[in-house]
Amino acid sequence: MRKPIIAGNWKMNNTAAQGVALVNELKPLVADAECDVVVCVPFTDIPAVSEALKGSNIALGAQNVHFAEKGAYTGEISAAMLKEYGVKYVIIGHSERRQYFGETNETVNKRMHAALAAGLIPIVCVGESLEERETGKTEQVLSVQIEEGLKGLEDVSAIVIAYEPVWAIGTGKTATAEQANETIGFIRKKCAEVFCPKCAEKVRIQYGGSMNAKNCKELMAMPEIDGGLIGGASLKAQDFSQIVHYNK
Ligand code: 13P
Repeated sequence: MRKPIIAGNWKMNNTAAQGVALVNELKPLVADAECDVVVCVPFTDIPAVSEALKGSNIALGAQNVHFAEKGAYTGEISAAMLKEYGVKYVIIGHSERRQYFGETNETVNKRMHAALAAGLIPIVCVGESLEERETGKTEQVLSVQIEEGLKGLEDVSAIVIAYEPVWAIGTGKTATAEQANETIGFIRKKCAEVFCPKCAEKVRIQYGGSMNAKNCKELMAMPEIDGGLIGGASLKAQDFSQIVHYNK
């Protein structure tokens, strides 16, 4: 019932020229994809990659968006700036933004509402640190991220949620399929409580954290996992296309 969504998060990798080369290699490899395919690219790559993706089944995403329409916010990018280039998705509240750039549930919430108001689909990231998991605080942390980060949402299925345990990002240490399934199940249950059971059934929740061509099949076979947000493995066309074709 929920269409799977496989999204690459290039993070701070690929110049515009490198990005175009990557998507040109990727396009034929994923042309027959049965899931939604997205690449979330650096801001400066957006114009050229947008052009290169025309006529393909790959949607374009950004990695952040500011909450104001415009104004004195040096270094920030508005939703309208993204929309002009056909950007469809935007990652919000990635743990690297929370960890290194002071992003909080409150700023995540404001950015999410600005994105929705402009017609962008937010991919809101949530996840616990290793210490939080080891001290049994995972559900508490996720609950606060959902209650505060997603506050004021009418329909939670208007967004995509990415569950990214911080300890699994870029570490090669993936959550087991059972762990990821159980935690995503908890997120869905929490969404049913905070929003409504019907929209919680509909919202797509991705897993992210060292997902690759080898482990994607097992993760994607889990009933609660509706897709992946892929960092490192999205930088190689072959690897990313194997994840897109996780069921082959
Ligand atoms: P890796 O796939 O490199 O672990 O990164 C995951 C991630 O942070 C995607 O947003």
